[in-house]
Formats: sequence, C-alpha cells, structure tokens
Amino acid sequence: MHIAIEPSILYFGTPVVLLSTENEDGTFNLAPLSSAWALGHTVVLGLGSDGQSAHNLTRRPDLVINLPSPDLWPAVERLAPLTGRHPVPATKAAGCRYEPDKFGAAGLRPEPSDTVRPPRVAECPLQLEARAAQVRPDAAGEFLIVEAQVRKVHADPALTVPGTDHIDPAAWSPLIYNFRHYFGLGPELGHSYRTQTPATTVSGCS
Ligand SMILES: Cc1cc2nc3c(=O)[nH]c(=O)nc-3n(C[C@H](O)[C@H](O)[C@H](O)COP(=O)(O)O)c2cc1C
Repeated sequence: MHIAIEPSILYFGTPVVLLSTENEDGTFNLAPLSSAWALGHTVVLGLGSDGQSAHNLTRRPDLVINLPSPDLWPAVERLAPLTGRHPVPATKAAGCRYEPDKFGAAGLRPEPSDTVRPPRVAECPLQLEARAAQVRPDAAGEFLIVEAQVRKVHADPALTVPGTDHIDPAAWSPLIYNFRHYFGLGPELGHSYRTQTPATTVSGCS
C-alpha cells in the first residue's frame, strides 16, 4: 500500500562531488553537487544556471570532480551556503552569501591538477580531471546539463586493489546526499555479475 505525496525535493541519495572550476580572474571556485553520474568516462552534471560553477563552465571547460569520503561532510556543509557569484543572484536560496575563497572557507587544500587548470581537493581520495564537452540548458531553462569527459583519475592508493587499476569497493565509500542528509555506505550486500574487481569481501550474489 502506498500513499501519494508531494515532496519538495527528490534527492533520493546520490554521491556528493566537489566541483572545481576556474573563475574569470584566474582564481578557482569550489561547489558541492549531488547531481552527478558516470557512464563510461563521461560524467553528467546538473548545475543551477544561476551559480558561479555554471557561469564558469559555459566559458572555461576545465573542471575537477572531487569525491569526498563520508568524514568530509562538515567541510561540504561549510560550502553549502556559499556562492562564488557576485552579486549573489536573487534566485539563490535564502542565507546564501558570496565567498571568493571557497577552499579557505571549507578548510580544504587545493593541489595542482595535471591536465586541467582548476586544482584538485587534496583531502578527497578520488579526483577526476575532466573537460566539459557539452553544456546545454535543461528543458525548463533552470539548470545546465554538463557532459564532462574524464581525462585523468587520481586515487588514494589505499583505495585501490594493489597492482591493478581497480578501486576496491570495500575500501571506498562515497558521501551520499539523501534527502538533504549526509550518509556513508552500509556493508556490502553483493556485486554485479560484471565486476572485474577481485573479491575482497563475502558476497550474497552468484
Ligand atoms: C550536498 C549538496 C549537494 C548539492 N547538489 C547540487 C547539485 O547537484 N546541483 C546544483 O546546482 N547545486 C547543488 N547544490 C547547491 C550548490 O552547491 C549551491 O547552489 C552553491 O551555491 C553553488 O555554488 P556556486 O554558485 O559558487 O557554483 C548542492 C549543495 C549541497 C550542500
């Protein structure tokens, strides 16, 4: 038995990413996003078109998709009320304020990227250097849909299966944004028949 409801948001639990982009003056912006998913080496991002990140990506295509671990949620939340856009657009949420130094405000450290201009977030165990190949408005004109081609992946070696290019799913946990609350992952339940990662934990699947 279900009931019909009208929730104000539909954030059903997706990983948080911290997006680094380049401002017009050569400084860098950093913003949390949860509208991000990967197919092959393309990552699709959904960005409010009024924000500084969207503004930057329509002009300078370089970006870094930084993946924070669950323990970094307070740093993510420190970024939540901030925008790199000045003046702050009237469409931004109440309480949103301009901050030109997002790294400093979050207490996160920039480290240089290899193939793109925006820096990586040193504290994030996974970092994807990428370039926006397509940036287009959504049907309602409120968001930008960005297709980013990943050029280089950096991983904390503690997350990899030694001697391979695989991320160990038992070692990595994304930070999940679940109806505006932060979660990590629970224990492994099973795996896909397509996994190429050597088994590190018991699985309930055949
Ligand atoms: C955990 C989290 C997830 C968010 N997900 C998105 C998102 O997917 N897309 C988006 O446009 N804004 C998202 N936001 C809001 C932006 O981070 C916020 O609008 C911010 O001001 C954007 O910064 P900017 O204007 O400097 O780009 C999210 C915020 C948080 C805290």
